[in-house]
Amino acid sequence: MACWYCLCVGFFRITFSLFIQAYKLNCPSLPQWKVRGYGLCNITLQYTCLLNTNENEYNEHCGFGLNVAEPGYKFVISGRLDSRRCGPDRFQPFSLLSNISSRCVTHKSQCNGEGQVVYSNGTTTNDRACRCNYINNFVFIKKPKAGCNCEPTQEDCSCYHRVCPVDHFLTPDYQCVHFSNWTGVFQCPEIQNEKIPKNGAPDRNICLAKSVPGIYKRI
Ligand SMILES: *[C@@H]1O[C@H](CO)[C@@H](O)[C@H](O)[C@H]1NC(C)=O
Ligand SMILES: *[C@@H]1O[C@H](CO)[C@@H](O)[C@H](O)[C@H]1NC(C)=O
Ligand SMILES: *[C@@H]1O[C@H](CO)[C@@H](O)[C@H](O)[C@H]1NC(C)=O
Ligand SMILES: *[C@@H]1O[C@H](CO)[C@@H](O)[C@H](O)[C@H]1NC(C)=O
Repeated sequence: MACWYCLCVGFFRITFSLFIQAYKLNCPSLPQWKVRGYGLCNITLQYTCLLNTNENEYNEHCGFGLNVAEPGYKFVISGRLDSRRCGPDRFQPFSLLSNISSRCVTHKSQCNGEGQVVYSNGTTTNDRACRCNYINNFVFIKKPKAGCNCEPTQEDCSCYHRVCPVDHFLTPDYQCVHFSNWTGVFQCPEIQNEKIPKNGAPDRNICLAKSVPGIYKRI
């Protein structure tokens, strides 16, 4: 009996605290932000909704005034108003006002379109760069400005599946080359997750060459 009581109280405490947390985890959505700001602070440029790093939950305030964070930074509350670098999935290319957002404002591109892979993860102020996965025979539809990598917010980074002639393989520079001409020296960096021999065509591709080009699928 006593045990049932314990379990019950425990259960209610857990669900109740989850409920509170779920509420506190969210700042108002963009359309609600100004409404909430007026409601709470009277002047919207005083309103902040920021992560409290000590409690790991979002807190609303009216008292910090209007502050500006450098590019690459967002505001948090850590005892006082403080700033932190953007996390790995967002970037902040311009200065951020404290009344605008609790996060760095721009989501990084995913580079997850067909045939795309990540070229670089970007920085706190820059987006990711993508490339096409030549290992699976994907090539840029339109050659990007930088040659080897592509900026998804600036240009079209789409890839298509190119079929090379028999005994030819796609290099990191996106050219079909006969295996006897495979130099192992390229302008564009190789994708590092596979051990491709420096001399001679990749083993895997030599295997694939025995089948009819164009019918094998991406791995
Ligand atoms: C909001 O601010 C204005 C101007 O300072 C003031 O007249 C008004 O009473 C305030 N309203 C509330 C609800 O505090
Ligand atoms: C934040 O403050 C700026 C500068 O005063 C103002 O232009 C902007 O409308 C404010 N944004 C919000 C959401 O209140
Ligand atoms: C990008 O970040 C992911 C996750 O941290 C990591 O697995 C990957 O290797 C990184 N890619 C590059 C090109 O740095
Ligand atoms: C290898 O490269 C040379 C020089 O570019 C070219 O003349 C030759 O036709 C190539 N060989 C094959 C088999 O493609």
